Amino acid sequence: MREVAVIGTGMTRFGELWDSSLRDLCVEAALGALTSAGTDTLDSIYLGNMSAGQFVAQEHLGPLMADYLGMAGVPATRVESACASGGMALRSAFLEVASGMSDLVLAAGVEKMNDGADVTGVLATASDQEVEVYYGVTFPGLYAMIARAHMEKYGTTEEDLSWVSVKAHRNGARNRKAQFRRAVSLEEVMSSSMVAEPLRLLHCSPVTDGAAAVLLCPLERAREFTDRPVKILASGAASSTLSLSHRKDPADLDAVELSGRRAYKMAGLAPSDIQVAEVHDCFAIAEICCYEALGFVEQGKGKDAARDGLTDLGGKIPVNTSGGLKSKGHPVGATGIAQAVTIVEQLRGEAGESQVEGARIGLTQNMGGSGASSVVHIFQGV
Ligand code: COA
Repeated sequence: MREVAVIGTGMTRFGELWDSSLRDLCVEAALGALTSAGTDTLDSIYLGNMSAGQFVAQEHLGPLMADYLGMAGVPATRVESACASGGMALRSAFLEVASGMSDLVLAAGVEKMNDGADVTGVLATASDQEVEVYYGVTFPGLYAMIARAHMEKYGTTEEDLSWVSVKAHRNGARNRKAQFRRAVSLEEVMSSSMVAEPLRLLHCSPVTDGAAAVLLCPLERAREFTDRPVKILASGAASSTLSLSHRKDPADLDAVELSGRRAYKMAGLAPSDIQVAEVHDCFAIAEICCYEALGFVEQGKGKDAARDGLTDLGGKIPVNTSGGLKSKGHPVGATGIAQAVTIVEQLRGEAGESQVEGARIGLTQNMGGSGASSVVHIFQGV
């Protein structure tokens, strides 16, 4: 396999973007990545998207995007793995460059969620229709069950969940592209309205429009395009049961653990080597479970990490310096790519007020559904 580098990044603002269409968002992010690498050619495109068919009645996004980029003729493929679609698109692009098949490959992600669809119903199609949706459960409900299981097994409290949200909003307030740029207090989180007990409004990621893109090429060519390439050391992916009820233990995200273990093995690194990470905090409990599954803390100790400052900017392992899905926003198909954009900025020393000083190794973790698919990438500034 060839070594692979990120040479360009692009990202739209995240939020309720009434004035931009799905294709506008896609093109803005993609052109950002191409422009930052100083090129206007591409060999291939992978586009992460969960549900444009249901959100805006548009399928067949690969050629649409190639066309609107002025690149009709380039192979362009949509990748779907629910909320992990972006991360899986990045993995596909990585594999195509690593294999030697193509040199310049764009991995992008997009979702337009605020155009009037039944968002909760559309998102629920990523869970098991027969075993879960039929009985009325939705994603806030599924993650509420994960939270309950974690509370019973490890003694996690509502306050522990709330510290994760306080950290997310503090970080998001520094991110000019975030949906919510507002710090919140512990009291505000704990008195926000109940969505699915024990998860409150401020424990949930929002409904978001947005897009992100990264441009990859073989490491040996990277300096033709940038002085600051970022190498992709590893890509690890895994699946678990679609239905939470079929899981051995709903408090443990087993696909996250397995995807992390595969990525660490490929990179020849341990969790203690990671200096900055973006993980999939679609609900506050998910971030706590990810700390544990990725080995940042021992199993059962994730509940203390945000409160104790371990995962804060300036902590031992800063997590979600972008504000995470909670505060930056969660346009589901774009999230995995947006995480990569943040980590690349960190490893290039371009993260401004959110910079983790001296960061050289970073990790992204992106998952689909209630953890039925997960993909982890490890990056190194070179
Ligand atoms: N965090 C913080 N504030 C939020 C928010 C969130 N997650 N969601 C909405 N708000 C704010 C809105 O900005 C609005 O504020 P305003 O009155 O000052 O304008 C207010 O809360 C009401 O917004 P509204 O859109 O009516 O909220 P809602 O009750 O329809 O939706 C949730 C709230 C939590 C149900 C919705 O954000 C949601 O479904 N989130 C989860 C998305 C999801 O499942 N993603 C996939 C994960 S696997």
